[in-house]
Amino acid sequence: MKQINGSSTGISKYEYDRRRFPLAEIVAQMFSMPVEQLERLHEALPQGYKMVQVADQLHVPFHRTFYDHVNPNGKNGFAQCQTSLGREFLDTYDLLARELIKVHLTEPSYFQVIPILRIQIPKNVAIVGRHRDADGDGRHHPDEVNVFLPVTDTYRSNTIWAESERDKKDFAPLEAKVGELIVWDGANLLHENRANDTGISRVSFDFRLWPFSKYVRRDGVYSLIMGVPMVAGGYFKS
Ligand SMILES: [Fe+2]
Repeated sequence: MKQINGSSTGISKYEYDRRRFPLAEIVAQMFSMPVEQLERLHEALPQGYKMVQVADQLHVPFHRTFYDHVNPNGKNGFAQCQTSLGREFLDTYDLLARELIKVHLTEPSYFQVIPILRIQIPKNVAIVGRHRDADGDGRHHPDEVNVFLPVTDTYRSNTIWAESERDKKDFAPLEAKVGELIVWDGANLLHENRANDTGISRVSFDFRLWPFSKYVRRDGVYSLIMGVPMVAGGYFKS
């Protein structure tokens, strides 16, 4: 994994070997489509389909498929076992997260057990509202580090728009190609989505890293979607 120049300040961009970490290919297999078709997955949805608000995303066709493959606990009515594709995805993700921690943070760190899938189809957003992840309900700690890993090329309005410094409000898109990922400070920087006018869908994963040196155990904080405790051994692993 090697660092390449970011398109804007305040982000670190890395290139990874797609043959070693074929996350896009595995997800495409889960969705029963060739990898090149991921950016057109909206064509498989009913016409005029309205994409999701955050809390509803488990009921969206492709989200449901992904979490059915990977969910290890069978919570919320999901499959009780991982499929072999689900296992393959998580093993590949684990390797990638560990390598990223080594090259970027260079210190032992926790990372999210299951990355979050986001889909932003044309004319839609993938998340609602402008926010910082550590604000509001305080689910995320300010020392968590965000990773954005798209499995379709992201540009302009089909990606996250983030400011480059706290309160600078100079929103710019996080642009990355398949095979690249972006490390950024989503806990402390304002970010939002805009209506996707690119004509192609964005399919992406995001997850957080949390250095051991900055970790604090916070009991009574649970993840929004799966209701998992936001602690090492729950939402985070090492
Ligand atoms: Fe966010």
